[in-house]
Amino acid sequence: MIELLMNSCPEYSLLDSGNGKKLENFAGTRIVRSEPKAWWKPLLPESEWRKAVAVHDDDTRNANWHFRGGKAPEPWVLNFRDAFSLQLRFMDRSKQIGVFPEQSPHWDFILNHPVPAGTKKLLNLFGYTGAATLAAARAGWQVTHVDASKPAVAWGRRNQELSHLEKAPIRWILEDASKFCQREVRRGNVYDAILLDPPAFGRGPAGELWKVERDLPPLLENCRQLLSPKASLMILTLYTIDASSLLCKNLLEETTRRLGGNVTYGELATMETAGNRPLPLSLWAKWRRD
Ligand SMILES: C[S@@+](CC[C@H](N)C(=O)[O-])C[C@H]1O[C@@H](n2cnc3c(N)ncnc32)[C@H](O)[C@@H]1O
Repeated sequence: MIELLMNSCPEYSLLDSGNGKKLENFAGTRIVRSEPKAWWKPLLPESEWRKAVAVHDDDTRNANWHFRGGKAPEPWVLNFRDAFSLQLRFMDRSKQIGVFPEQSPHWDFILNHPVPAGTKKLLNLFGYTGAATLAAARAGWQVTHVDASKPAVAWGRRNQELSHLEKAPIRWILEDASKFCQREVRRGNVYDAILLDPPAFGRGPAGELWKVERDLPPLLENCRQLLSPKASLMILTLYTIDASSLLCKNLLEETTRRLGGNVTYGELATMETAGNRPLPLSLWAKWRRD
């Protein structure tokens, strides 16, 4: 059965959405960004949308931020409960500001489930600025974080300090996820848990092209070989608009077939504060073995 997981990040709210945009509040900072899944009409009056301090406009070829008063606000911090903290900031051109708050049910899951006895190694592929990595480190996992973006990995390290997790065992790896996994298979390394949040399209640090429909199945085949005999967890999320949660489920069942356990799957969504309308944002599947 498809399961709907709702955003659980206390310092984030989705105020409204519609006309291909969303109005959001990140730890007191109100912003507007495009949202391809918001096909309906906004509920709040325009005056509420005009209170945003930053609007990301990607209607034109020169997509970028426009700030009220012309000046970008300073970087600020979003705390996830007392588990970890993330620095947020406006980047040139990109509409991403350092966090995907709809992933929060997965952070809560990781935080609320103790690391099973006799296991410790968790691999986080496409880890971005490290939210899931920090949740896992807080829960007691020894984490290997892989991402192709130098700024994202540097940002993740800063978030580790900001979260007072400096002493936590995290390996920050700047590499193409596919190449890293191929190499780990050759070295005979294994992991007890694997998280993957692959984009639809991306580039490795050496320009390697990532296309999810072409590259995810072979990556999962390598992940299958990287799962330790005691492995207990895999979480896959996909933002690709033409994918489905059943597709995520089928892929994870194929990857974990010989290990037993159980796959659950569904959507990640955020409820608007303006109404009773959940905005669907991502697809997920989770494999667990007790
Ligand atoms: C959707 S974001 C991940 C969001 C993150 N997991 C979170 O919840 O905050 C995708 C990430 O994949 C990275 N990426 C893109 N292509 C890659 C590749 N070939 N190998 C490794 N990472 C890649 C990007 O740098 C980006 O940080």
